[in-house]
Amino acid sequence: MKTKIFKMENKNDDNLGVVAALLKSNEVVGFPTETVYGLGANALDASAVNKIFKAKGRPSDNPLIVHVSDLEMLNTLVEDISEKAEILMSKFWPGPLTLIFKSKGIVAENVTAGLKTLAIRFPDHEIARAIIEQAGMPIAAPSANNSGKPSPTCGEHVFEDLDGKISAIVYSDESKHGLESTILDMTKEPPILLRPGSITIEDIENVIGGIESDPNLNRSLSSDVKPLAPGMKYKHYSPKADVRIIQGESDKVVKVISDMIDTYKDSRVGVMCCDETKSFYQAEKVISLGSRNDLNQVASNLFNALRSFDHENVSVVLCEGYTTQGTGQAIMNRLNKAAGYEIINV
Ligand code: TXA
Ligand code: MG
Repeated sequence: MKTKIFKMENKNDDNLGVVAALLKSNEVVGFPTETVYGLGANALDASAVNKIFKAKGRPSDNPLIVHVSDLEMLNTLVEDISEKAEILMSKFWPGPLTLIFKSKGIVAENVTAGLKTLAIRFPDHEIARAIIEQAGMPIAAPSANNSGKPSPTCGEHVFEDLDGKISAIVYSDESKHGLESTILDMTKEPPILLRPGSITIEDIENVIGGIESDPNLNRSLSSDVKPLAPGMKYKHYSPKADVRIIQGESDKVVKVISDMIDTYKDSRVGVMCCDETKSFYQAEKVISLGSRNDLNQVASNLFNALRSFDHENVSVVLCEGYTTQGTGQAIMNRLNKAAGYEIINV
């Protein structure tokens, strides 16, 4: 299949109608959002949704998030919207927060992988919203990467993974947040955090009070444990190289990583660090994610950095760890998955 590329700067682009028409005819399309790029299809049609699973190589037991362009669309899809959910929606939507509700069973069955609940997101990206609006239907969309690879934060990443496998890709700006949305299950009381993101636990608790976290969030899962978000059991975000996290006081981390570079001197070594430490490392490929004092910047550069190590053919990537407070929780969640939870505390 020839994948068409559309470059768009804003929602007034003439090709937006062409993209909406592709979705209406049950084709799959890569498109920008403020978190990561998504791979969208008509959520009401099982054959369209099936094309998403096929293109990504995604296991069929991993449900998809459905994207809406207004609250009216939300109300057609789910029920039992609690007062707490209303508060979160008025505070954080449109934005990088996915909420799980009881499904009305309107979407195609393969969207929810048989679950009775449905994850909904109202993206804060004008092109994403305009595409959904013009298509006039809810759009199921996982991140637009091959299963197992880091999520895409620009059109080129989508092209790298899915060229020839999908009908079109809309290229626009780099994803602002660079990490997938925070996921909160509103069918439970208190609500349960299933995936941390740039809307933090603190942000949520400030408006609705205490929530709980899936106890399996930050640990490696043996095959008998079922995480509450099925996708969290799969290895994610991994470059081809082995990833190791080194966590501790900055001086010690720099010393340990430098020693490790020497130990691995017969292999090509990558280092993922911050602006404050970059000059201390001499390795094949050293990438700074930005200043350690700006975790939003670190988050937005993380997936691009993980991907770029693949092009350098390094066999190991040594990563500095981050705080688990605020946005750091989401950063460390993704890093931990990339590293298979191998963390060296120094
Ligand atoms: O920021 C995002 O959320 C991006 C953009 C494209 O919107 N999408 C995204 O989708 O990250 P995906 O498919 O890569 O991750 C969705 C996660 C998976 O771990 C899946 O198992 C979980 O959400 N999920 C979806 N529906 C669920 C449900 N009903 N109950 C529990 N977990 C669910
Ligand atoms: Mg994904």
